[in-house]
Order: sequence, then C-alpha cells, then structure tokens
Amino acid sequence: MSAEEALDVTAYLREELPPVEAALERAVIAIEERPDVAEELAQAIRHGVTTGGKRLRPILCVTAYTACGGLRSDGVYDLACALEMIHAYSLMHDDLPCMDDAELRRGRPTTHIAHGEAVTTRAGAALIPLAAIQALRAARALRCEEETSRLVASLLMQAAGAGGMVGGQWVDLLGEGQAFGPDELNALHRRKTGALLAASLEIGAVAAGATEDVRAGLLEYGRAIGLAFQIADDILDATASAEVLGKNPSDEELDKSTYVALFGLDEARRRAEAEVARALAALESARVSSLELDALARFVVERGS
Ligand code: IPE
Ligand code: IPE
Ligand code: MG
Ligand code: MG
Ligand code: MG
Repeated sequence: MSAEEALDVTAYLREELPPVEAALERAVIAIEERPDVAEELAQAIRHGVTTGGKRLRPILCVTAYTACGGLRSDGVYDLACALEMIHAYSLMHDDLPCMDDAELRRGRPTTHIAHGEAVTTRAGAALIPLAAIQALRAARALRCEEETSRLVASLLMQAAGAGGMVGGQWVDLLGEGQAFGPDELNALHRRKTGALLAASLEIGAVAAGATEDVRAGLLEYGRAIGLAFQIADDILDATASAEVLGKNPSDEELDKSTYVALFGLDEARRRAEAEVARALAALESARVSSLELDALARFVVERGS
C-alpha cells in the first residue's frame, strides 16, 4: 500500500470515540435505572466502564460490521459496547489484589481502590450477564434474525469464558514465577486477550450478515491482532512509564510469563509484527478490503499506550 493510501488511524480512532462513549453511557444509564441493581454496584460499574480507555474492541466490532457492508447507526455501537462491558469487567477483576493488585488504571484509581474490593468483585461479575443481554438486545434491534442475535450473544460469552478470557486469566496467574515455553505462552495470550479481540471482529461480521469466508477471514485477522495486542502490552509494560500508560508496569515485579521475559524485546517486537502480517494476509485471502482494518492492525503494535 502506498503512503497516501494509508489511513490516518489517529483521526479514525478520534472519530469513532464519541459514538462509542455515547453508547456506553446509554448502557450504563440503563443499568443505573434497573431497580434490581444496587446503587453501589451501579457506581462501581460506572467507574469501570466509563473512565477512558482506547475502546479498541468496540471500534474493531463496528469497523468489521461496516467492512461487511453494514451501516453505522446507534444500534451497531450499542452492540459493540457489549464487548467493552466484558473488557471493562475483566480489567476491574484483573486489578484486584487477588490478581494483579493494581492501584492505577487509565490514569485513575482502580475500581476497587475507589469502591472497595467486595463491591468491585460483584460489579464485575454483574457486568457479564449484563453484557450478554446488551449483545442480544442490540442484535435484535439491528434487525438481525433471532438465530443470529443468539449467536452473537453466545460468541461473546464463549470468548469471555473458561475457553477464552477467563481461562487465559487463570493460566496467567498460574504462570507467575514460572517460565512458560513459547507454546504455553501463545496459548495463554490467545485466550486471555486474543479471544475477546477476535470475537469483536467475528461479532461485527456475523451481525452484518457476512458470508462464511469473510467471517472466517475476520476471525483469523482478529486472532492475529489479538496475539499481537498482548505482545505489545507486554512490551509496553517493560518499556513505558506509568505516566504514559495510565497504569503501573508490573509484569517483572509479579514475575509474569510474558513475551519480553521469554524472548527479549527485539524478538517480541518481531513476533508482534509477524502477527500483524498474518492479520493483513487473512484479510487479503478473504477479499476484505478495508483501509481501516489495515490501519488498526498496525496500530495494535505501534501504539504508545
Ligand atoms: C489492557 O487492554 C488489557 C489487555 C487486555 C492487554 P487495553 O490496552 O485495551 O486497555 P484500555 O481499554 O485501552 O484501557
Ligand atoms: C489483562 O492482561 C488481560 C485481561 C483479560 C484483563 P494484563 O494484566 O497484562 O493487563 P494490564 O497490563 O493490567 O492492562
Ligand atoms: Mg493480568
Ligand atoms: Mg494486569
Ligand atoms: Mg499487561
């Protein structure tokens, strides 16, 4: 691709942010208005969901949806923010003392520092079914067929569950103080971070009614950038400051199994780049032409935070 063809990814992310934030705000207000959600849980949910972040998962979902011919609407942002609700809960739990024990997230106190451990644990757990309901209702509102709407919610839950993110988080904790080999580390990263990123693409494709080939291509792209994303996260943890990251680097202190610990910085960077190339090749073989998806794949490894 020539330089003039490449998309300005910063401008694209800047444009996508307001509709994502608006959809998240709608979702949080709906949670706050539920009589069965205690006020203190709703406050912790608001803290975890609405305080910043790159919003990459919903942006990827909407971008996949539009790359498959879907039109931008509030409805697709409502669908996409179900992914961010799962991501937000995962960070609320990730930062708890029994996990990574972090006090800073997105430049602010973590949810349990602001709202306490007990409330944060429950608020995070409450977000899981709330996200499933959000996905189901949003897909129906987009006029997806009932079977497709259920599939969308089920893909989200599978990515979040024991075979995906939660399973990966479990292995991540087991890996503290151990030296995982390349295969174990790949499996860990694919689950803890890759599964939800891949689901962001697949859900966007499914909701837009993509063909099987295109859906598979976007899933492959999502898996590759998902792995690249966590390698980049490990690299940033080893090289960037808390001020820039908005979170305290902690992998070395927690003796985590990371790409940087296993391979060193240069090889970790090379492997992240190789995953980006794999992502772009997956788009090409599925004949998905999207400057946005091309640029987002590069952003995953070039980002500064
Ligand atoms: C951080 O995710 C946690 C990982 C899965 C590596 P992000 O880097 O997407 O965090 P935010 O949402 O932008 O804060
Ligand atoms: C978190 O990975 C992955 C999740 C599923 C939340 P990390 O523990 O490396 O994320 P950060 O570095 O704290 O954001
Ligand atoms: Mg962690
Ligand atoms: Mg962490
Ligand atoms: Mg990290």
